[in-house]
Amino acid sequence: MSAAGDCAARFAPALLAWWDDNGRKDLPWQRDVTPYRVWVSEIMLQQTQVATVVRYFDRFMEAFPRLADLASADIDHVLHLWSGLGYYARARNMHRAAGMVQDTMGGELPTDIDQLIALPGIGRSTAGAILSLAMNQRHPILDGNVKRVLARVFALQGWPGSSKEARQFWDHAERCTPPDRVADYTQAIMDLGASVCARSKPGCSACPMIGLCEAQRRGIVGLLPTRRPARERPKRTTVLAVLVRPDGAVLLEKRAGNGIWGGLWGLPEADRVTDVADWCIRHIGVTPQSIERQPVVLHRFTHFDLDITPVTVALGSVPGRVMDDDRWLWYNMRKPARVGIATPVSRLIEEFGESVWDAR
Ligand code: ADE
Repeated sequence: MSAAGDCAARFAPALLAWWDDNGRKDLPWQRDVTPYRVWVSEIMLQQTQVATVVRYFDRFMEAFPRLADLASADIDHVLHLWSGLGYYARARNMHRAAGMVQDTMGGELPTDIDQLIALPGIGRSTAGAILSLAMNQRHPILDGNVKRVLARVFALQGWPGSSKEARQFWDHAERCTPPDRVADYTQAIMDLGASVCARSKPGCSACPMIGLCEAQRRGIVGLLPTRRPARERPKRTTVLAVLVRPDGAVLLEKRAGNGIWGGLWGLPEADRVTDVADWCIRHIGVTPQSIERQPVVLHRFTHFDLDITPVTVALGSVPGRVMDDDRWLWYNMRKPARVGIATPVSRLIEEFGESVWDAR
């Protein structure tokens, strides 16, 4: 057997022995395991820490205990329970997929990997995680934690996010996945990547792979996995208007389904601060009593930075125009409506909503 082949054969037994003593076994989605619960948890855990997800998962399951409940839910309710988790396309895709499963697949999440991958928002790794964790089916996974572990143990060079390199990572993931105890193995490799084999300050002395790890042998653990080639982060700018009635209610607009914060409720947006007064007259039929530019707030998205200039607007009387309920909402912080709102928007409402009239 080649050195790498030998290592792959020893990988799972070493990992499982470590997990038996050190792994996480009482996370909410590890109780009452079903494909639906594992699906929801895996989607939430993409890009989000376990400690944050636990709260969101419990609330979500309380509202939508079964797939049928999610499928028939209003998207506003789904996004409301997702508010603060970010990456809202995850929630929109999950809601859409639940509808498809309910309408065309008899209401049960498919247990065939290709059918699962065909659903919106479920890639090969997530499908593998769902079927291995919930059904003990043998499928490899390759999320960020697993990429890090494999890059180090097998000293794999190249940025694992590129399609050119992905192939060798998947090959290693496939070869390391054991025929038995696949559910435990899947959880174990994610746990190892999230704890001992951390991105910075890995705990190599406590690692079950210490005798197998090629990066450790060569002293290059800190250099792997290879980082993404540096790219310019584009910067965008926008103006968000916090329009406040005398009773403290703030005007929200439903955002288009695609684009940033799609499907969530947001503050009216303008290109320039000087457009805001005109905007009020055109859309609400009211001339503002005062308009104030506030300090710029930076929000980082994955692929770009957004500079937000908040503009606070005191509206004396409103509205002079009929406003469609599907698109406009007067949001009262003291009696918040059950809708999705992105965290930076919530922060602006909290910071400026009530004070606009106090400050005058
Ligand atoms: N990251 C993605 N899935 C996970 C899981 N099931 N447990 C811990 N971290 C994860």
